Amino acid sequence: MDIEAALEEIGRAPNLERLQGLKVHYLGKNGQVTQAMKTLGQLPPEERREKGRVLNEWKRALELALEAREAQLKEQALQAQLEQEALDVSLPGYAFPSGGLHITSRIVLELVNIFRRLGFSVVEGPEVESEFFNFDALNMPEWHPARDMQDTFWVEFNRAAEEAFTIQGPFGEDVTGLGGAVLRTHTSGMQIRYMIQHTPPFRIVVPGRVFRYEQTDASHEAMFHQLEGLVVGPNITMADLKGAISELARGLFGKEGKARFQPTFFPFVEPGVQFAMWWPERQKWLELGGAGMVHPYLFKAVDDYRERQGLPRAYEGMTGWAFGMGVERLALLRYGIPDIRYFYQNRLSFLRQFRG
Ligand code: DAH
Repeated sequence: MDIEAALEEIGRAPNLERLQGLKVHYLGKNGQVTQAMKTLGQLPPEERREKGRVLNEWKRALELALEAREAQLKEQALQAQLEQEALDVSLPGYAFPSGGLHITSRIVLELVNIFRRLGFSVVEGPEVESEFFNFDALNMPEWHPARDMQDTFWVEFNRAAEEAFTIQGPFGEDVTGLGGAVLRTHTSGMQIRYMIQHTPPFRIVVPGRVFRYEQTDASHEAMFHQLEGLVVGPNITMADLKGAISELARGLFGKEGKARFQPTFFPFVEPGVQFAMWWPERQKWLELGGAGMVHPYLFKAVDDYRERQGLPRAYEGMTGWAFGMGVERLALLRYGIPDIRYFYQNRLSFLRQFRG
């Protein structure tokens, strides 16, 4: 065996695999050095000692060479890997597109936060609603013009769907049979649901989607949002209503914001008003919604329902006020958006203008 050639071969081993092969070749169980050592016993003592010493030296030399080459190869591999994975920190990064809240969500949050500061709770209700909550209990009987087919999306159940889908009342009871089913045309039905489930006093606002069977144009959409408010207690007056809406005006339009009320008719309030807010920046009034003192009919409908559920009547002697306003309408006016249909066409060029 040529030890010099062996050491040189190890020193030149191109990779770890090959190096391992060489290790086996010389030092493995059947390796050259190992085999040679096994034959020592057959030699005369003198020769044996001398040859044994040489073989041990070779073995040691080979081990050192293998170790050294292994360290070298590993270092080379590491360097290669580092080079390959090097980051060029001077390269410009990717700009990840960032999402954001829809303009409608922003307005809803803005409104809701103003009312939160005034001690209101925020609740939500179902979008598929029974005729009873959307109309009847709100003092809108069958003959009321607002119930025209023009205005309302009716929901028809076929047999299969009827079993799969029910409308639940305030206590989870099945109210699918309380008249037909509609896509709620306003958030006012939640007044009834909430009153049935809670006893006064309370203050709530209800943001939510509403639907109207409408020919869409620049100022009409079949789906939009409202914010409903309801306050009930033993001594709630019209002055409280005016105070809260005025506070909303200041919350939206600053210190100089104020509200104006004009009498009008809604079946579920008496007296009823429409309200506008003064926009100091533009020096103009914005008609934003309707409001009024809760009609006694509602309290009676609610108490009757409670009684049917085995609950005590809770609204005798109570008064309250309510309001409802359009969310998109506020945004349209405030930002000068020319067409309500822009809201839900999801064109980013439109939506991005309202990122915070
Ligand atoms: N529900 C009415 C609508 O959709 C808005 C409204 C008016 C709500 C007067 C109220 C109210 O709570 O008191 O046009």
